[in-house]
This record gives sequence, C-alpha cells and structure tokens, in this order.
Amino acid sequence: MKSELKESGVISLSNAGKTAEFPIFKATHGPDVYDIRTLYKQTGAFTFDPGFTSTASCESKITFIDGDEGVLLYRGYPIDQLAENSDFIEVAYLLLNGELPKENELKEFEHSITMHTMVHEQLKNFYSGFRRDAHPMAIMVGVVGALSAFYHDSTDIADPKQRLIATHRMIAKMPTIAAMAYKYSIGQPFVFPKNDLDYTSNFMRMCFAVPAEDYDCNKVLCDALDKIFILHMDHEQNASTSTVRLAGSSGANPFACIAAGIASLWGPAHGGANEAALNMLEEIGSVERIPEFIERAKDKNDPFRLMGFGHRVYKNYDPRAKVMRTACHEVLDALGVRDEPLLQVAMELERIALEDDYFVEKKLYPNIDFYSGITLRALGFPTDMFTVLFALARTVGWIAQWSEMLEDPNQKIGRPRQIYTGAPKRDYIAIDGR
Ligand code: SDX
Repeated sequence: MKSELKESGVISLSNAGKTAEFPIFKATHGPDVYDIRTLYKQTGAFTFDPGFTSTASCESKITFIDGDEGVLLYRGYPIDQLAENSDFIEVAYLLLNGELPKENELKEFEHSITMHTMVHEQLKNFYSGFRRDAHPMAIMVGVVGALSAFYHDSTDIADPKQRLIATHRMIAKMPTIAAMAYKYSIGQPFVFPKNDLDYTSNFMRMCFAVPAEDYDCNKVLCDALDKIFILHMDHEQNASTSTVRLAGSSGANPFACIAAGIASLWGPAHGGANEAALNMLEEIGSVERIPEFIERAKDKNDPFRLMGFGHRVYKNYDPRAKVMRTACHEVLDALGVRDEPLLQVAMELERIALEDDYFVEKKLYPNIDFYSGITLRALGFPTDMFTVLFALARTVGWIAQWSEMLEDPNQKIGRPRQIYTGAPKRDYIAIDGR
C-alpha cells in the first residue's frame, strides 16, 4: 500500500507553559486525524482512549463507514450496490486488489481460489479430537490455527508470493473447514468441494449434501447467502480486524492471525451477536413479551442488552441491516415461511425499539446481526453455525487488512501503553514481617 497522508494543518497542545504541535492529516471521507506519534516525546504524556473510540490505529484504503449517515463503502463502492450487482468472488477481488476486476482478471482469480478449496487430508484428524457437541467456533479457532502446521510454503510473510498464496488458501479453505465443522457436529461424512460450482453454492453443497443422494443448490437461497457473505466481508477496524492486524504486526503467520480474528469475532458483543440475537428472539417467544425485554434492556442493573441492536460506529440504521432485511424476506418467501413466528417477533421488536425514547436518544438501531440470524436459520443452519458463517465471510476483510498492514510503510509492531494507577514503588517484606 502506498501511504497518502496529506498534511492539512497543525494543531497545538499547551500545558504548564509548554506547547507541542502535531500535523493534521486530511481524509478522503470522514474525520481528519491528529498525528500524535511524537506526543510522548514532546510532552512525556500518553493519550487515554480505552476501546479506541477516538483513535485511528492505521491508514487504510479498504472500507469506509459513516456511522451518522449509515454509509458503508468497500473501496469506494456503496455496500447496497455491491450486494445487488456483484457476487462474493468479485467483491473479494475488489477488497484484495482495490479495483473491480476485468473479465480475465476475475476468471484467473476465481480459478486460483477454486484450485485451493481442498484441505490436507491429515487435517481431518483434528476434527475427531473434538467432542461432537463442541461449538463449531471452537473447532474453527483450532483447525484454522493448525493450518500453519501444514502450509510451510506460505508462512514467510516477507515474501509477496507466499503472502498471495496464503491469501488465496485462506479464502478458499474457510468454506471447506466450516462445512467440515458442521458435518462433524451432526455426525455426517465430510463432503468434498466440487470445482464446477461457484464459491457459495460449493459451500452450501458441502454443508447439506449427503453421499446417498444428489444435491442441487436452490438458486434463490444460494444468492441470498452470497449476498449475506458480501455484507459481512469487511468493516474497517472492528475488534476482530484489529486483532488480526495486531497479531500480524509481530510477524505472526497469516493462519495464526486469522485464528486470532476468529477467536475475537466469537464474542457476543461482536460476531457472536447473530447467534445471541436469534437466541434472544426465541427467549422472547411472542410479541406479547416484547415490552418486558425492552424494559430489561433499559435497566442499568440488568446486564441484558437487545442483541442485534446498537453499534460502536453506526448511530443510524446499519446499511447492511437494510439489505439483510430484504434478503430475509426474500428467503422466507422462497421457502414459504413468511409467517415464521420469530420474524413476527423481530419485526414488532424493531418497530417498538425504533419508536422507544431510550433507543431513539441512544441511537440504537438494528445492526447486521438482527436479521441475519433469522435468515441463516431459514437457510438450514443451526444457531451455533451463524458466527462461523460470519467468520467465513470476514476472512476476506481480515486477510485484505492483514496484507495492507504489512505493506504499510508506517506499520510497526502494535504496542499500546497504559496509565499506571497501581501501588507506588515499595520494598519486599519478609513473611514474618507482614
Ligand atoms: C458487530 O465494530 C464493528 O464494526 C462490528 C461489526 C462488524 O461488522 O465487524 O459491525 C459486527 O459486532 C455488530 C454489533 C453486534 N453486537 C450486538 O448486537 C450486541 C448488542 N449491542 C451492544 O452490545 C452494543 O451496542 C455494542 C457492543 C455493539 C456497542 O457497544 P458500545 O459502543 O458500548 O455502545 P454505545 O457506547 O453506543 O452505547 C451507548 C449506550 C450505553 O448506555 P449508557 O452507558 O450510555 O447509559 O447504549 C447502551 C449502552 O449501555 N446500549 C444498549 C445496547 N447497546 C448499547 N442498551 C440496550 N441494548 C443494546 N443493544
């Protein structure tokens, strides 16, 4: 990545008669930044920003989010246009390379991904080490991390060729590994990828085909899942992407970095929210019980939060939730389950929450996880596979951000500091003197 930080001014900080100055860099879209890299050297102080709510950790050209306006761009293209007009493999190319592919570029990229979809036969042994009822995300963290034990020819991150192979391997093998985790959990045999299928149809077949009969992927359902994958592919410097970048900044191999991203995504406040949102809808159970849960969400003494609502950045409707909502209705109509009870609860919960003062003043809108759970369940996936699908799609964003970080001339090993408020320096006291 070529750094294009453009200085647009200077900001000064004065304290105790001393003044420090810092350059301001102008963004293409969104907030400008104050370059405080010399703050400690000039002032002897650190900034304090737990959760990084006001901190830009890097320069990036991949994704732009405007939380107030509800805007999400992948390499400048609005997410709704990509979801409507493109598909997984083309958007993956766009995120990795920065431009939409020409026909020959797309064909070559798709061929390379297709040729990496199989996993080493010995990788199967990892699955039999897990209990059948292991959470599929636990299997994903373990198996993806283990890939670095198999692919020594693509772990030297200093070699651009090896980085490219690792990138294609990661994107190509995630569906196979994810489908194997699902098959293992239901005691069915693993299904091999088929090279004449597109990325998402291949995944659906590896999940739902059985050796006893042929499997044809329902085009409406495969198209809906492909759209869901596009919506989940990248999202700027979210918790799991920042985890991948931080792990990668130490020079860790790409497979280990992606395993770290999967671990972070698993949390219910992050990628685990789609599973938690569906479990919440099932717990609410009926439209009549919604007010009780709305009150619990407002109660500061109750840890309950409305899963699928709120976002660190979006203080407007998550643009992905809008597309997700449409895809949800399309899938339920295609399956003839439009009056799915959970959908009724979800629609009424959304209506009430969007009118309730607490949610309006705190700008808590439905996020991508609100409708994805209902859609994924309708597509036939069990709840504990929802975050696995999120990880499958987000692998494209993780690996694109990982590559960008390694090529960034300003990149260093990530090493935040702290404010220490512990015990002042003191001498050791022997046990008989305590
Ligand atoms: C994802 O970062 C990303 O980009 C993530 C993601 C991606 O693509 O990578 O978009 C994917 O993780 C989406 C978010 C999925 N998580 C959930 O749906 C879980 C439920 N949401 C909350 O846990 C929460 O909204 C977070 C974690 C998403 C955001 O947490 P913040 O930043 O602490 O929320 P906030 O500062 O905006 O909260 C403002 C207030 C707080 O109350 P006060 O302290 O001001 O009194 O709103 C409250 C929060 O307590 N609040 C909620 C709430 N979310 C925030 N109250 C009830 N229900 C909720 N869902």
